[in-house]
Amino acid sequence: MAALLPISDSAIPVLDSIPVDKGLALVTKLSSDEGKFKTPTLRNIAKTAPYMHDGRFQTLRECIQHYNKNFHYTTNLAFELKTVTKNRMNDADIDDLIAFLNTLTDEEFINNPAFNEP
Ligand code: HEM
Repeated sequence: MAALLPISDSAIPVLDSIPVDKGLALVTKLSSDEGKFKTPTLRNIAKTAPYMHDGRFQTLRECIQHYNKNFHYTTNLAFELKTVTKNRMNDADIDDLIAFLNTLTDEEFINNPAFNEP
């Protein structure tokens, strides 16, 4: 089942040191899937707050600070984060990353009347 879902193959940025919501593990019953969630699109990400599966972050800066320093070094932490040290981004780096994420907003799509509420 896990192979059919668009799940990050190496669990996310584990938001909690002990996952409150066990995520994919609720379905697979595998401890190696605890804290794993579907990887969401970043398209229009500036417009889709609140963030994460439980909406715990209100801003992109909070999301990035999670990746920068607030994540937990747990067994299921994504490889990409396991191998980096915390606080590697300074305020200017974070500003740049937010500016990049803002470029992923598709105004034409958002304002297309074809996708209005019926
Ligand atoms: C600096 C690099 C990264 C940025 C800027 C970033 C950005 C984000 C943002 C803004 C969200 C919230 C999306 C939403 O709620 O709609 C998110 C969630 C998520 N990201 Fe990342 N991400 C990064 C790195 C990674 C890595 C390395 C992984 C895994 C290998 C990953 C996997 C995920 C997953 C699975 C979620 C959903 C978490 C949940 O629902 O609780 N991301 N990311």
